[in-house]
Amino acid sequence: MSQCPYNPAREGAQMSFQDRMSYVDYLQLDTILSAQTPLSDSHDEMLFIIQHQTSELWMRLALHEMEACRQALSQDRLRPAFKMLSRIARIFEQLNSAWDVLRTMTPSDYQSFRPSLGQSSGFQSAQYRLIEYAVGNRNLAMLGPHAHRPDLMAALEAELAKPSLYDEALRALARMGLPVPQDILTRDLRSPWVEDPRIEAVWCEVYRNPDRWWEAYELAEKLVDFEDYFRRWRFNHVTTVERVIGFRRGTGGTEGVSYLRRMLEVELFPELWRMRSTL
Ligand code: HEM
Repeated sequence: MSQCPYNPAREGAQMSFQDRMSYVDYLQLDTILSAQTPLSDSHDEMLFIIQHQTSELWMRLALHEMEACRQALSQDRLRPAFKMLSRIARIFEQLNSAWDVLRTMTPSDYQSFRPSLGQSSGFQSAQYRLIEYAVGNRNLAMLGPHAHRPDLMAALEAELAKPSLYDEALRALARMGLPVPQDILTRDLRSPWVEDPRIEAVWCEVYRNPDRWWEAYELAEKLVDFEDYFRRWRFNHVTTVERVIGFRRGTGGTEGVSYLRRMLEVELFPELWRMRSTL
């Protein structure tokens, strides 16, 4: 006996969008879904494009959360800040899982569209640099690829003028009564963070007396959690890159895998890692 296909209109599903906003309108899907334009005939270029575009969307959300998180920290609203830090860590966890899709692309698949990329590379991702600057990895040399785009330069410069996530965390510790030195609190924000044994001592105090400094302790673990996922992203990236292009140079002009390995050594919150050995 054949059954008529069920019609959800019977239970009230809206079926006409002549005069009202639809899902497609709200999400601007016409714009988003018309932004995939492979430059070669290669089947795999679509995967490459979508993998990068979705990563950029997740980075957009991470930056949105990072902004609000730093604001909450600066106002001593620690619980909302913790919630946002957890979300940022989950975003990176999500980005880490995404590498599994890209790993289905073989070296021959990649070579079939590699010439179409020209000199373009994730190395020129302004959002990635914004994330690095926002969390505290402020390497001004990375501004170079954005010099031709005054809007991106302005966004990056604006970020460099603000306290990083780590700066905000240390300011919050000082307000809690922990002995964060004054020269750290008034440091030149644009300059890269320099590991400081006095900050390691502050974190040691927190971890030795978690009951006394519970919020600082929780903040520390949230920061480590984020860096942990961020490191995994870098590691997954470099492993995928080696799998796909071996030790060839990158399209962005660096030595490729060896450059990315060097980046694995960059620490965002060095004292939080170091204190684990001295505690
Ligand atoms: C098969 C895929 C991929 C290959 C072969 C690849 C290759 C590379 C290479 C060689 C570099 C070093 C810069 C250069 O000389 O180009 C780089 C940097 C970068 N890539 Fe990828 N990549 C891939 C996928 C991705 C994806 C999916 C993303 C996500 C957005 C991404 C984001 C980045 C970022 C942000 C950098 C800069 C890293 C830094 O400076 O620390 N890459 N990539």
